Amino acid sequence: MSDEQTRLKQIAADAAVEQVESGMVVGLGHGSTALLFVRSLAKRVASGELTGIVGVACALAMEAEARQLGLTVSSLDQHPAMDLTVDGADEVDPALNLIKGGGGAHLREKVVAQASAREIIIVDESKMSGRLGEKWAVPVEVVPFALKPFSDYVASLGAKPTLRLGRGGEPFLTDQENYVLDCDFGPMDDPAAVARSLEGRAGMVEHGLFLGLADEVIVAEAGGIRRIKKEG
Ligand code: A5P
Repeated sequence: MSDEQTRLKQIAADAAVEQVESGMVVGLGHGSTALLFVRSLAKRVASGELTGIVGVACALAMEAEARQLGLTVSSLDQHPAMDLTVDGADEVDPALNLIKGGGGAHLREKVVAQASAREIIIVDESKMSGRLGEKWAVPVEVVPFALKPFSDYVASLGAKPTLRLGRGGEPFLTDQENYVLDCDFGPMDDPAAVARSLEGRAGMVEHGLFLGLADEVIVAEAGGIRRIKKEG
């Protein structure tokens, strides 16, 4: 990641922190941009500027990071409804539909997003696209038992599935100890139809198409911040 990209991610993260109020239950997303948000949030809590903040993390790694930064972290059992969630994304279309799961945390990210009163997505301008699938394959979490038949099914839909590997070349494992298949559908005319076709197959745990879930996207561009809000 370039220094400029990190600078833009930080600007988006800081803009999102402005929307956090004392006493809120805040969903903590996953990925490098969400991490910058969590660090900014922790600084405001440490300085006393924000009080009574409870975080609910979308990934085990982020939970550990948040605790280390001194944030109070709870569970969905204790706090099943978030006031606000701030998360990153891999690709954002003009209607605020997203591809997520570059970090493999899209199952928990979607659970938390659906349980949040507001979902704010923070990105640098490189994430914006005309059509989902122009830049990213769709990450799909699959139970290991179903890997081969599910891969064949995705191929029969005309997409190219690739098993995600970890650093050592072994299959990447999610927090649920499942695999991730990165399914390249190319630019999608109808992401909702793709989502439905994935949801109709056993062995699929969750896919990274987040359709209609973002309330606001904060885009940090070289020229400044752009806020895009959901219509209606
Ligand atoms: C994590 O599973 C993803 O959904 C992330 O939100 C996404 O990959 C964005 O990551 P960066 O902020 O690191 O670009």
